[in-house]
Amino acid sequence: MYPCRVVRKRLLALFRRNTFLRRLLYVCTLICFSGYTIFHLYFGPGYMVYVHKNIQASCIIPEVNPYDKEIMKFFWKPDPIVCSKDSDLVYFDFNSTLHLNKSRTRSSSISCQYQEVVRKTNDDFNVELGPEVWFNSSVVIRTDFVNVKCFIGGKMVYSRLHYQVYRPPESKRRNPKKKYSVLIFGMDSVSRLAAIRELPKTMSYLEKNLGAYVFKGYTKLGDNTLPNLAPLITGHYAFSKEFPVVEHTKFDNHPFIWHNVSRLGGATMFLEDWPRISTFNLGTSGGGGFLKPPTNHYMRPFYLAINHMQMFESPVSDVLQFLEDKNVKLSSTSYLCYGEKSLHVIAIDYFKRFLLAYKDDLKFTLVWNNKLSHNYVNFIKLADDDLLDLMTFLKTEGFLDNSFLLFLSDHGSRVDKIRNTPIGRLEERLPLISLVVPQQLKGAYPNLHENLKTNINRLTSPFDAYETIVDILNENFKSQEVAVPYPRGISLFRPIPNDRSCADAGIDEHNCVCYSSDSVDVKSPVVVKLAEYVTANII
Ligand SMILES: *[C@@H]1O[C@H](CO)[C@@H](O)[C@H](O)[C@H]1NC(C)=O
Ligand SMILES: *[C@@H]1O[C@H](CO)[C@@H](O)[C@H](O)[C@H]1NC(C)=O
Ligand SMILES: *[C@@H]1O[C@H](CO)[C@@H](O)[C@H](O)[C@H]1NC(C)=O
Ligand SMILES: *[C@@H]1O[C@H](CO)[C@@H](O)[C@H](O)[C@H]1NC(C)=O
Repeated sequence: MYPCRVVRKRLLALFRRNTFLRRLLYVCTLICFSGYTIFHLYFGPGYMVYVHKNIQASCIIPEVNPYDKEIMKFFWKPDPIVCSKDSDLVYFDFNSTLHLNKSRTRSSSISCQYQEVVRKTNDDFNVELGPEVWFNSSVVIRTDFVNVKCFIGGKMVYSRLHYQVYRPPESKRRNPKKKYSVLIFGMDSVSRLAAIRELPKTMSYLEKNLGAYVFKGYTKLGDNTLPNLAPLITGHYAFSKEFPVVEHTKFDNHPFIWHNVSRLGGATMFLEDWPRISTFNLGTSGGGGFLKPPTNHYMRPFYLAINHMQMFESPVSDVLQFLEDKNVKLSSTSYLCYGEKSLHVIAIDYFKRFLLAYKDDLKFTLVWNNKLSHNYVNFIKLADDDLLDLMTFLKTEGFLDNSFLLFLSDHGSRVDKIRNTPIGRLEERLPLISLVVPQQLKGAYPNLHENLKTNINRLTSPFDAYETIVDILNENFKSQEVAVPYPRGISLFRPIPNDRSCADAGIDEHNCVCYSSDSVDVKSPVVVKLAEYVTANII
């Protein structure tokens, strides 16, 4: 191995010195990477046909070992994310003011300007920068995103995007009609088993300290993000008449639950950290998305602005990501960063700022992290400490007293060889979902806890999570029996029937992972032999 390492080191050094070679390598890798991806997606192994004999049968949820050795060989420990040492020169306080950080620079002749990031009218794909405004040491800014440039003696020494959550003064008189907020925080492509393996600190804190319910039978409804996220926040099947997705679909008038929260006087926020593959922009050829920002705070323009500022780097970072997953690092900082922070930390930070800006208000949030976990199963563990930190913040700042937290995913890993294992196939269909309920509600409605605890071991789907959100907004916490025939979606606050089948829950054959039982003849030789064996071995 030793000479190999030397060669690699020399090669890396050569690439670092020689810009032309580096660019050439980037371009070559880009081409190879695209070819590989296309091959991987369309011809690679992994599309296993999953046959389920009877989706009408009562569901028995498979019990699987998250540490099965078949699975463990896909996991290794990536190095921690290293971001730019070139730290931020300016910062936002929590009072809409941008400050120059005087202790960060020794130069007294530094001068800075900012430009607002402006979303183009009725356009979900392009941003532009507003006029340049000079400022000295601090300046009040009445928008969420700005680009800041600083100069010393006419030479630009700094250019970076910054964010805050700007709460306009006219929104100060909100008069919410309901009390309980819904905070959805999602990580793409994380199965429940992957969460147990990869996010041990976060999951342990959720269950032990926050009393979270982690549902073992939560089953996906469709292949990728849209068909699982749309039912969660609309209660409808995606790509159906209920929730049409066709060419050029704009989603402004689709029945997202955040519109209801707005009508109740609540503040809403939606964030997805990878603009190229955003859920409601990717699925429709000819450009989907929203004409108007769908929520009060919408972070997409910030991420678009990053690409606007670094046009060359966006495709390159995909290549670097691919190489980083193979443990090859061409640059000293990770593609998972913007400036001094990693992208998931930026998402967490914006989420926290939103919560603080609307501390006493009714809120609805949907935070969706794609970058870290979408394509590779290994990086998610790099977020464990930051997620733990977020959960601790939610608790200590009191947000969980009047908010329900849904920490969840859409499906398991679906772009990796892990799917070729029997457990990987199950995992792909069983995403993580965990629910934290305000403590004092559990006291006031003991049935809540009872039902939730039971439902951990029942068959559930995003339709049920949606009905739960509806119950939260209607403050409907009383116990209610489930009507027959069973509705497609059943709130997790109700006792979900033990004999529910995939067909009852609206889960199609391709995604149904339930085991089922069959009646057998008690006199059949196999049954007799089994019975004899069991009785002989019971002490
Ligand atoms: C916030 O800024 C306003 C002026 O923009 C100022 O009057 C107020 O005192 C500031 N509040 C805090 C807590 O700094
Ligand atoms: C200002 O810069 C210093 C030195 O880089 C850093 O330690 C400090 O955290 C920064 N302050 C803020 C508010 O970002
Ligand atoms: C910045 O400071 C200089 C010198 O003190 C002053 O002339 C200028 O007007 C200030 N600019 C702003 C935008 O406050
Ligand atoms: C949300 O608002 C729509 C339109 O007003 C309404 O039809 C629907 O019933 C509401 N949903 C909930 C759960 O309140």
